[in-house]
Order: sequence, then C-alpha cells, then structure tokens
Amino acid sequence: MERDVSTPNDALHLERRVGLVSGVALIVGTMIGSGIFVSPSTLLVKTKSPGLFLVIWAACGLLSTLGALSYAELGTMITESGAEYAYYRHAFGSLPAFIFSWVCTLVLKPSQLAIICLAFAKYTVEAFVTECEPPIFIIQILCVAIIGLITFINCFSVKLATKVQNIFTAAKLVAIAIIIAGGLYMIGIGNTQYLSQGFEGSTTSFGDIATAFYSGLWAYDGWNNLNYVTEELKNPFVNLPRSIMIGIPLTTACYVLVNVAYLAVLSPTEMMQSEAVAVTFGTRALGTLAWLMPLAVCISCFGSANGTLFVGGRLCYVASREGHLVDVLSYVHIRRLTPSPALLFNSAVALMMIIPGDIASLIDFFSFTAWIFYGAAMLALIVMRFTKKDAPRPYKVPIIIPVIVLIISVYLVIGPIVDNPKIEYLYATLFILAGFLLYVPFVYYKKVLPGMSYVTTFLQLLLEVAPSTSMAE
Ligand code: ARG
Repeated sequence: MERDVSTPNDALHLERRVGLVSGVALIVGTMIGSGIFVSPSTLLVKTKSPGLFLVIWAACGLLSTLGALSYAELGTMITESGAEYAYYRHAFGSLPAFIFSWVCTLVLKPSQLAIICLAFAKYTVEAFVTECEPPIFIIQILCVAIIGLITFINCFSVKLATKVQNIFTAAKLVAIAIIIAGGLYMIGIGNTQYLSQGFEGSTTSFGDIATAFYSGLWAYDGWNNLNYVTEELKNPFVNLPRSIMIGIPLTTACYVLVNVAYLAVLSPTEMMQSEAVAVTFGTRALGTLAWLMPLAVCISCFGSANGTLFVGGRLCYVASREGHLVDVLSYVHIRRLTPSPALLFNSAVALMMIIPGDIASLIDFFSFTAWIFYGAAMLALIVMRFTKKDAPRPYKVPIIIPVIVLIISVYLVIGPIVDNPKIEYLYATLFILAGFLLYVPFVYYKKVLPGMSYVTTFLQLLLEVAPSTSMAE
C-alpha cells in the first residue's frame, strides 16, 4: 500500500499503487487507534450529559469530513506528497513550511506515538491489574518496550511494517464490530435508561466544550493521512475525494455507534470513572468473550502506532533531506534501505514524552498544536483561491467549507487558552516561535554547528547509514 520510503531519488521511483479500497483503508486504519477507547471518559467528564457527548462525537466527525474535503481540493491541486508541508510552501513560502516540518517532526508525530503507546500500555496493564490503580512505572516500561518493538519493525524492513499495518487494520475493524453488536443487543433487550437521560446537566463552559472537542478530535486524527501520499494514488483526482467521502463518514458512524453501545451498558458515572472503558464494557456485555476487549484495544493501538511511526519517520527524513533538519536524519540504512536515523529520532522524542505519562494532557498539547496547522491549511486554500486563481482544481470545495473549518480551528485554539490556560499551550507556542529563530541561521544561511561533521560520521558508522543519493546507482 505504501511505497518504500527509503528508495533513493524518490521522485523518480513513485508508483501509483494506492487505489480506492487501499485509500479508504489508509484513512480508516489510521483514524481508528487509541482514541475511541481512551477519549470517551474524558469527553463525558467535559460534556456532562450523554446527549451532548454523542453530539460532540458526531460533530467531530463532521468537522473532520469538512476539513478533509478542503484537503481534497489542496491535494488534487498540489499533487506533491507531504500534505501541509507542500501546501504552505506553495501558499506562504519556505518559512512556514519549515516551521511545520520542525514542529511536526519534533512535537506532533512523537506525541502521537507517545499517546497511542501509553494507551496500549494502560489497557494491557489494566487487563491484569484489576484491584488497584496500576503503577505508572509499569505502564512506562511497557511503553518503552512497545516503542522499541515498533521501531525495530520499521527499521528492519518497510515490507514488514506495511504488512503489520494491514493485518492490524483488519483486526481493529472486527473489534469495533463486536462492540457495536454487543451494544445493539443490549439496546434490543431494553437497556436504554442512560441514553434516555438526553441533555440533562450539559456543560455550558466555552473551554470545556473546546477541550471535549480535543479529546474527540484525537480519535478522528489521521483524516488527512491520504494527503501525505497523493503521489502514490491511482487516479488521485477521483480517488482522493472519494476515499475521503467514504472513509470519514464510515469512521464517524463506527464511533457514534460504539459510544451508543458504551452508554447502553455503562452509566455515565461508571463511564467517567472507568480507566479503560472498553474493558469495563467487555466485562459487562460480552460475558465469556470479555477477554477479547483488552486484546482488541492493544491490536488497534499497535497498528495505529506502527502507521504513525511509519509516516513520522518519512516526514522527518524528507524534511532533513530538504535541509530543514540535521543531515544525518535523511540517511538510510545501507542494506535494509529504511530511514533508520529518522525513525530512531522520532521514537527517542516519543520516549521523552511518556515521562509525564498523562494521556489527557498530551492529547490537549497535541490537539492545540495540530489545529493551528490544520487552520493554517484552510487559510492556505483560501489565499490560493486569490493568488493562484487559474491553477487547475480538479476538485473544488465550496469556499464556505474551509471558511467554517478555519473559524472553528481558531475557536479550538483560542477557546482553551481563554477559559483555562495551561502550561502545555505555552510550551507549544514557544516551540513554534523557536522555529522562527532557528530558520534564519540554520536554514536560510545554512550554518552548521561546530563539531557536527564528527557527530555525523560517528552516527553514520554506528548505525550503518549513508546519504540516500550516494546509493542511487
Ligand atoms: N486517531 C488515532 C487514535 O485514535 C490517532 C492517529 C494519530 N494520527 C496520525 N496521523 N497518525 O489513536
């Protein structure tokens, strides 16, 4: 489904191998990961009523669909891979593109990996430790093990990594189907008392709703994944919009139904208190099959983490090849042809992020930063409607859609700062600003840190890697 990222002279070797079905799978397989299992409790704590809770789940799906439709215009107009990186470069120039690659490789991708692996570890531990709160260091050790394993798979072979991805995508769909079937059965036998509480007691706080969106939108993150590989899509002008229009509503339907299923079995209070809602659901609704639930969650998270590292490694590799990060990160393993320095770097940053060990604040931190960039992509679309009026647009989205998504993304970024400022938001902003400061000396003037060539040579020998162009022959 995905091409070998390490192939030298990428531009010459692109093959259009992703059709409609794989396109849909690429979207659905990335989106369904940890969120549908970890976000429901937080989201219910914020919204305070089953009615508003379900509305926000559906609204997150709608927002992702609208965002992705706008990305369909961007992706069919600018057919280069790399999504935001390419769109910013065309709309705003090199500096914003650099800022994106800087924040994406150092913050966005590693934090995605950290969150998914923490969820994995939490569910695994939860399955064994039932009487008390599981110790955080056990969760962290498991996280380290899992990140290590995924990094090994991705460094070992691209083929193995994509195979893992496909098998795990299929498995997670089965898990979702089991939950929905269990829930529908419970509703069928009359368990509707929690669902019928409706909107009673809903929150009215501006910031609570924004952070509830953050938790929900985390589960939907990945809706733009196909835009990173447009160069590999067969007939992209048709298949990109079509995969989006099938994949995201499908995921939305799954998510809303899974949450209806949770509420058919667990009371809102039980759901808010549950550390692992799918496990609690399993013990109540699935009887002897209850053991399936923690296993399914682990499979879903493992697949999603694998895909996330795969794309993260590739972005880091491309950005450093463009001179936006240190050179050694663009080198590939001399025999395995995998971008191992980029992968190892991505995993190392993710490991640092698991130290605080708190999934909810990592999700806030991630979503805040991500929505700055999704909003900026909407702005890029609107700007290019004026600056590149005559560029061919095989798929043209009604302009109101990116305008709506832009307004919502401004609300999503500003809302939590106004309502409940957190230190995470400051870190994220400082990080983006640091990017501006580094751009001038290191990218614009191409300055190199003293001693960097020794470090590069050392790492080259240690990791057995070489610049990808030197292997072109
Ligand atoms: N939505 C996924 C989840 O619920 C996370 C996807 C991470 N994003 C990405 N582009 N890989 O775990």
